[in-house]
Amino acid sequence: MRTFGCQMNEHDSERISGLLEADGMAEANAMDEADVIVLNTCCIRENADNKLYAQLGQLKHLKKANPRLQIAVAGCLAQKDRDLIREKAGHVDVVFGTHNVHRAAELLTEARESGPIVEILEETAREDAAAFPSALPAKRESDFAAWVTIQIGCDNNCAFCIVPAVRGPEISREFAGLVTEVKALADVGVTEVTLLGQNVNSYGRDIQLARRQAGEDVRVRPLFGDLLRDVGAIDGIRRVRYTSPHPKDLRPETITAMAETDAVCEHLHFPLQAGSDRILAQMHRGYTGERFLEKLQEARAGVPDLAVTTDIIVGFPGETEDDFVRTLEVAAEARFDSAYTFVYSPRPGTEAAEWTDKFIPAEVTKDRMERLRTVIERSSRARHAERVGKTEIAAVFGPSKRDPDVMSGRTRQNKLVHFASDKPLKAGTYARVKIVDSGMHYLRGELLDITALPTHRTRIPVVSA
Ligand code: SAH
Ligand code: SF4
Ligand code: F3S
Repeated sequence: MRTFGCQMNEHDSERISGLLEADGMAEANAMDEADVIVLNTCCIRENADNKLYAQLGQLKHLKKANPRLQIAVAGCLAQKDRDLIREKAGHVDVVFGTHNVHRAAELLTEARESGPIVEILEETAREDAAAFPSALPAKRESDFAAWVTIQIGCDNNCAFCIVPAVRGPEISREFAGLVTEVKALADVGVTEVTLLGQNVNSYGRDIQLARRQAGEDVRVRPLFGDLLRDVGAIDGIRRVRYTSPHPKDLRPETITAMAETDAVCEHLHFPLQAGSDRILAQMHRGYTGERFLEKLQEARAGVPDLAVTTDIIVGFPGETEDDFVRTLEVAAEARFDSAYTFVYSPRPGTEAAEWTDKFIPAEVTKDRMERLRTVIERSSRARHAERVGKTEIAAVFGPSKRDPDVMSGRTRQNKLVHFASDKPLKAGTYARVKIVDSGMHYLRGELLDITALPTHRTRIPVVSA
């Protein structure tokens, strides 16, 4: 299983792995030992497309060496390119998209019997419980931390973004089912959950709307704050994270729920995209630079010690030097803990991809990217340095890559922390560490004591809601 793209895809990969294991397969140690290779793809930027086709090229010789080998391409790029995948790479056996992940095992069996299959559905059937995320067996990559999809698709229309086209309209999963699922995870020792959606702040709006249309007397409002509270109250759940909230939809109720629910971590991923009001309007983001900063201020006032990360796009079509300087100003004022920065990449079928006469030359975006990185690095270093002297709880995920005597974990703010321990600590241990040093991307700490030992079984059984 090879995964490209965001956490949604990571989670879909867990579901595909779970389905294949339930079908009797076992994970291979290496690509060249596998009888089935699934590439779960992303198409958010053009280099994601290129990466996939390069990788498929490399797999051709494996297929020659092992004629039994089946290659499947799943995910967002499959949803976008459909038949083109097999036209470019005829050695692919199965292509399936984002709306029929639940068919993974059957499609492989069918292809083995009757030849290559391309199956792409237009959307996920709201009523088809089997097609829904997490209603499927899932194999969890981590034993103590789990992802839970609360909503699929996206109803926004950001002018640069291909996600709505490949993931379909926004559909929320049922509230009670989600809470039950997290309880089941907690029962097998999961202590951290990350709630996933493209626009989590509007979670539940569609459910309420459907109820009202069915004649129930309910107020149509997002249920995200309620979900944070209910998930955070589950026995055994120590940490609740979520991603991503859309700045235009961040509501005071969500901030209050974060502040009042101990388990919800002090971290907000708050994608800015751009600072200039003119560009933000053309992107259809629904806020101005000023409004973004106000909302951020409200969040920081409500949740003390809040870490804030973001996504920023450089070189959106028509971005002038003045527009870009405004991005620098807003980013500097926001004092982000870290940022994912992307050069704008035109995506077929999206609105902004049509504005070819306004595309920004590569040498300009390169220069802007460097200047933006400098601003982000300054705040990252400063925000990390502010942690020195504080005591933090680290959720250990294992020994550090460089030194087996050093443990690595994440603080509640989602910062990477390294600390020495004379005996190895198992993943899922919670430890109190005193922060003594910091860098741009990490903290260094000294172990004070262990606050909780892992409670999960070594292998979490497949979960089926
Ligand atoms: N739903 C999330 C974003 C998911 S895509 C949200 O609204 O925050 C993750 C990030 O990829 C986006 O935040 C954006 O910064 C970046 N991105 C999306 N489309 C892009 C494109 N065409 N070119 C460059 N970056 C893009
Ligand atoms: Fe894309 Fe915008 Fe939806 Fe995020 S909110 S997935 S950027 S369309
Ligand atoms: Fe995610 Fe990439 Fe699809 S970012 S939603 S895997 S296009």
